[in-house]
This record gives sequence, C-alpha cells and structure tokens, in this order.
Amino acid sequence: METKIFKKDQLDEAVDLLTKGELVAFPTETVYGLGAIATKEKSVKGVYAAKGRPSDNPLIVTVSDEKTMERYAKEVPERAKKLIKHFWPGPLTLLLFVKPGTLPTAVTGGLDTVAFRCPDDQLTHDLIAKLGYPIVGPSANTSTKPSPTTAEHVYHDLKGKIAGIIDDGPTRVGLESTIIDLSVKTPIVLRPGEITPEELSKVLGEKVLINTGKVSDKEVPKAPGMKYRHYAPSEPVTVVDNPADFSKIDFNAKTGVAALKSVLDKIDLPGENKFDLGNNLVDADHNLFGGLRYFDDKDDIETIYVQGFDEGEESLAYMNRLNKAAGGHHFNK
Ligand code: TXA
Ligand code: MG
Repeated sequence: METKIFKKDQLDEAVDLLTKGELVAFPTETVYGLGAIATKEKSVKGVYAAKGRPSDNPLIVTVSDEKTMERYAKEVPERAKKLIKHFWPGPLTLLLFVKPGTLPTAVTGGLDTVAFRCPDDQLTHDLIAKLGYPIVGPSANTSTKPSPTTAEHVYHDLKGKIAGIIDDGPTRVGLESTIIDLSVKTPIVLRPGEITPEELSKVLGEKVLINTGKVSDKEVPKAPGMKYRHYAPSEPVTVVDNPADFSKIDFNAKTGVAALKSVLDKIDLPGENKFDLGNNLVDADHNLFGGLRYFDDKDDIETIYVQGFDEGEESLAYMNRLNKAAGGHHFNK
C-alpha cells in the first residue's frame, strides 16, 4: 500500500480515505495519532494490526468538542465539565464510563470506560468535523517504539501499512497527553503529561491522586498500555540523574548521549554520538522521543545515556517516559 503524505490543503483526500475505512495518521499538539473512524470495528482492528498493538490495550477516542463526546459517554460528570472548560482543546484525556453499545469493544478493550481527548490542532478538528465521526487516536508508532513527534517518524514506522499521514510539522509538546480517570471516587492521573496533577487539582478544587504505574503482568492495570515495554530503542538506555556523573562514564565510539546543550558541550564525543535535547526541561520534553529514535536508527550505537531531571511535578511526564525507555535503569543507582 502506498502511504500518502497530505498537507493542510489536502484534508478532503484524508477524509475520503477514512470514510472508506482506511487508516490515516493525524497531528496533535502532543504526538501524532493513528486515525480510523471510531465506530467502524473493522478499521479499528486495522489500527491494532498496523501498530502491532496487543488487543487488550484500549484506544483513545479523539473528538472535536464536548458535544460529540456526549454521544458516547454514559454521563458527563461535573468534574469533567470543569476540566473541559479549562483545558480543552488541549493535552488532557478524560476517562469516563462509556454509553453501552455506542462503540465497538475493539475501542474500549471490553472495559466499561472510554478515554476521550480533544487535541489542540485545527487541522484535526477540521478533519473530525468533515468526517462527522470521532476517530480513534493511539500514538502513530509501532508498538514499543517511542511515539512520533513528526510526520517523518510516522512514515518511518508505518509506511506501507497505512493509507496516509496528515503532516502539520513537528508537534508542540512532544510527550503524550495527561490521562485522568474520572470513573472512580477520587480522580487519579493514570499517565502524567504536560498538564500536572497540581493544575488539575486546582481546577477541580479537590485532591487528585497519581498512579505510580507499578503493575505486574498478572494484574489488569487501570491504563492497560502502561504495563507494556514502551518508548524503547533496541539498545539499552541508562538514565543519568546527576549531570556531573557524565564525567564518570567511559565513552567510546559506540555510546550515544542525549542531554541538554550545556551538558553535551562538556562531553568529548563526535557530534553524531550526541543528541541535543535543548536548553531546558520544556525543550527536553519536546525532543526526548526524537533523541531515542535518532540512536535507535544508528547501527553503530550500542548503549545510550540520557539526562534525567529532578523528579518534581514538572518533570513527571519526562521521567515517566524515560524510565520506561530505560527499563528503570539509572547510572550509579
Ligand atoms: O497525547 C495522546 O494522548 C496521544 C495523541 C495521539 O492523542 N495518544 C496516545 O494514545 O497516547 P495511546 O493509545 O498511545 O495511549 C493511550 C493510553 C494507553 O496507555 C491506554 O491503555 C490508555 O490510554 N487507555 C485508553 N483507553 C482506556 C480505558 N478505557 N481505560 C484505561 N486506560 C485507557
Ligand atoms: Mg502510545
């Protein structure tokens, strides 16, 4: 299958393909998503096949507004309304009870909840409006690989497997949305993202819990995707928490380092063994997945060191993804 790249003015072609049941990747402010009409079971199953995603890992439903969401949610609690008013469109996914019979079980993984997201991307809003249906939207990467932050990343993973990619340039945030579960007594963040638990708590006016994400293979975790190996290049990754520790590492031609520019400048390695994460944590969020992919694609690299950041609210999302990529492996810990 040919995978077509669509620019802004070619949205109608993407709409046609999706209407025919094909898969088309779409831009969001976090990472690129892999779209299929959420009510078409066959297409939704195709999303799992293209990604190589385990079938017990449910999909996010991408909507363009609250009204569309109401067609598929059993109810929209007051808490959800508050968060929507404050954060949508934006990188926040809400877990609500599903209205029975409105979505194929392939979307929900057979759970009684469904995840709704309204991304901040005008092209994708226009796409959904033209389609008249919400689209499923898992990250448009091969399962286990880092999520795609450019259309080129999507093409790299899924060329020949999907009908098209809508290219809207690099994504702004670079890490996936915050997921908050509102189907339980106390709201809980299942996956950290740009919107922090503290910000959510402030808007809700109540306590918000944070899921530590430690689940064994036997349990059914609240966010099933969190149990799988993820974001991982094929070479081992080590987190370096203290930038001063970079001077203790025995670098050679087969080591790759991803760190802030100020840290990289002090490391004696050829340019191609270094990946610049930028000048601060926000830049690092934006660049992390690109850095992991850069080294994954270099055959001569055998180990990768990546700069960690103090684990506070601001770095929760970055450290969550990096820890997964590293399988929890830290330098000197
Ligand atoms: O930023 C994002 O959220 C991106 C963009 C493309 O929108 N999407 C994304 O989707 O990250 P995905 O499928 O890669 O991650 C969704 C996560 C998975 O860990 C999945 O298990 C969880 O959400 N999830 C989806 N539906 C769920 C449900 N009903 N209950 C619990 N977890 C759910
Ligand atoms: Mg994903």
